[in-house]
Amino acid sequence: MLVKKDQYNVAVAGATGAVGRKMLEILADRDFPVANLKVLASARSAGQTLTFKGNPVTVEELRENSFDGVDIALFSAGANVSRQYAPFAVKSGCIVIDNSSAFRMEPNTPLIVPEVNPDAIDSDPGIIANPNCSTIQMVVALKPIHDKFKIKRVVVSTYQSVSGSGQKAIDELQEQTKNLLDGETAKPDVYPHQIAFNCLPHIDIFMGNGYTKEEMKMVDETRKILGDSSILVSPTAVRVPVFYCHSESVNVETEKPISAKEVKELLAGSDGIRVVDNPENSEYPLACDGADQDEVFVGRIRDDISCENAINFWVVSDNLRKGAALNAVQIAEYLVQRA
Ligand code: A2P
Repeated sequence: MLVKKDQYNVAVAGATGAVGRKMLEILADRDFPVANLKVLASARSAGQTLTFKGNPVTVEELRENSFDGVDIALFSAGANVSRQYAPFAVKSGCIVIDNSSAFRMEPNTPLIVPEVNPDAIDSDPGIIANPNCSTIQMVVALKPIHDKFKIKRVVVSTYQSVSGSGQKAIDELQEQTKNLLDGETAKPDVYPHQIAFNCLPHIDIFMGNGYTKEEMKMVDETRKILGDSSILVSPTAVRVPVFYCHSESVNVETEKPISAKEVKELLAGSDGIRVVDNPENSEYPLACDGADQDEVFVGRIRDDISCENAINFWVVSDNLRKGAALNAVQIAEYLVQRA
């Protein structure tokens, strides 16, 4: 449990990565009450300097004893690192907010989106899991719909930016784009195929059922966060050559009669959502507008002409912010407010 203090000792594990750097930026921007900040990464980065609130902070190698005296640790260094080091952080009395998939589906680990299910954090959580980026933006939009109309089934296709695969993938898209425009070849490294000028229907590994792990995360995590295992989710996850922001096409079928008009009003008044929906003026959510913004943007809200009690919408959000770093910091803010 977090003990009430004026300021907290905070550690960021994976601080040199795409999400880790956003975590530092967001902690500073939102004036999180930080007493002392530790920035942790692999031995490769130890000694490098990052910036927090205009001051240099030296990167330390992540070790088992890195969390002595730390109150809150934000992890974003991948599932293996979380599995290896988060238990040491918890042992030293620190609350871990983990951005990886390592603990999300463990029954006793709360999986939290602060606008949706903050009450799922019990009094002594140890590890709190931050959901998958594609799931977060979708459930922020689904929660008010589920509360009012009871969702039966969701069919979703994602258009996910490369920043979700980390800094190396950002570099890869940049390099491949440049090389191809220069008439050279594109060499895939992070992804199994060329990502520049292409769409890859393959995110994370393939599971035995023909779906990818990313797709199954959307199924399992949506049910856990909304606290309803009866919700059916049919996902297709696609990586697209966009740097920042995930976009999703979502079809929702509900038990109660639903209309696009009602959903538009409902979402416009919901926490964390901005409705951008004036198609006659070509206004709808766009990845290039959502980058570096905090909200989940929803538009193209329309009745499903093929199915009774169903609607379609398009949802966009910055995967590094609401999809990862911002959501983690909002969880930390909730803990502080509750302490
Ligand atoms: P490093 O920069 O030293 O490799 P991204 O998701 O952008 O690829 O970032 C991954 C983050 O996780 C980086 O900060 C990276 O540090 C960190 N990381 C990767 N492997 C380890 C490890 N074994 N121990 C600690 N940090 C790690």
